[in-house]
Amino acid sequence: MITAVVYSESGGTFKTTTTANLAVALERMGLDVCVIDLDPQEGNLTSLFDVGEHRSDPEADNLVKHILEMPDGDFEDLIETSEEGVDVIPSHDMLGDFTSNLEQKIAYETGMKNMNRDEFPRFELLYDLLWNEQQLQDQYDAVLIDPNARAEDLLYNAIYALRTLVAPVKPAGKGNLSLDGLEEMVANMSDELDIEVGLSCVIPTAIGQTNAHTQYTKQFKNNEMYSTPVAIPARESLMDAMWEARGSAYKVVEERWKTFEQDDEMVSEPGTRRVRDRELETLRDIYELAAFIATETFDTEIDPQLTLEIDDHGERTFTVGDDAEREVTA
Ligand SMILES: Nc1ncnc2c1ncn2[C@@H]1O[C@H](COP(=O)(O)OP(=O)(O)OP(=O)(O)O)[C@@H](O)[C@H]1O
Ligand SMILES: [Mg+2]
Repeated sequence: MITAVVYSESGGTFKTTTTANLAVALERMGLDVCVIDLDPQEGNLTSLFDVGEHRSDPEADNLVKHILEMPDGDFEDLIETSEEGVDVIPSHDMLGDFTSNLEQKIAYETGMKNMNRDEFPRFELLYDLLWNEQQLQDQYDAVLIDPNARAEDLLYNAIYALRTLVAPVKPAGKGNLSLDGLEEMVANMSDELDIEVGLSCVIPTAIGQTNAHTQYTKQFKNNEMYSTPVAIPARESLMDAMWEARGSAYKVVEERWKTFEQDDEMVSEPGTRRVRDRELETLRDIYELAAFIATETFDTEIDPQLTLEIDDHGERTFTVGDDAEREVTA
């Protein structure tokens, strides 16, 4: 089974975009995919996939209530299926107060059992819920988490439960630093949680055509420590349109969503985007990335063929692994 937290230390590293596109790519490979949104902020995976209608209703049952063992309903009722077939456990405002709610639970339970607070397994709650209680391993081939970026209880619960990281990184002047930082981060997580944390791969993302960006990508590609199966180029227009299409980059291209100015207002419509080879290549790269994670990291069988049905433009088909020696290009 594929289990991965999409995370790298710094904020705004395209975690949500990467999680959504990977989830849809895996789904299109014939796998049953569930994504858990642990980020309480606006502009999270829940809004991207247009689910989580009750995310601001404190009365509504939500994942936090289940993690803290105070559910208000069935776990299955939390799960919503997005238009592209990916199951989502949506975010809820209560995720923002997770730690204070957890502290209350710990105070109560350790008090009752006359137990030391430090003995409470505070990072193991999500693991227990997903695998012991709900046995998601019987329902899904892949579970991904888009975490809360802050290094606190929720992130640690996510990593403890899924064990493997996929790390999108963005180019910065301090390219080297983020390489060392990643290694240190994985080591710290392993120490803190007392488990083996794996790093499936690093994905340099939003790579421009400048020298600095090319150098940065080379640095990642040439290092022995991490796999870098693909680098995702700067594709602002494509990725930003995901938020209008309410779905993956596959949906944007297939339904041809485009955002443009009309009478001083920005509008978004399907059926208007031009079909660009470079965007098709990016969809293939994301499929390649998902295939790497599925087969190289987790030894899962997949359908290697990607077929795009583009509105008014017929079908395009790519097969991953066709060009195994393909260079990572910016
Ligand atoms: N390859 C890309 N090229 C250019 N822009 C991109 C690319 N991928 C994503 N973006 C854009 O970057 C912005 C931030 O992406 P995203 O929301 O995925 O980051 P995040 O890591 O989830 O942020 P946060 O830490 O706030 O949760 C979005 O506007 C998104 O459309
Ligand atoms: Mg995000």
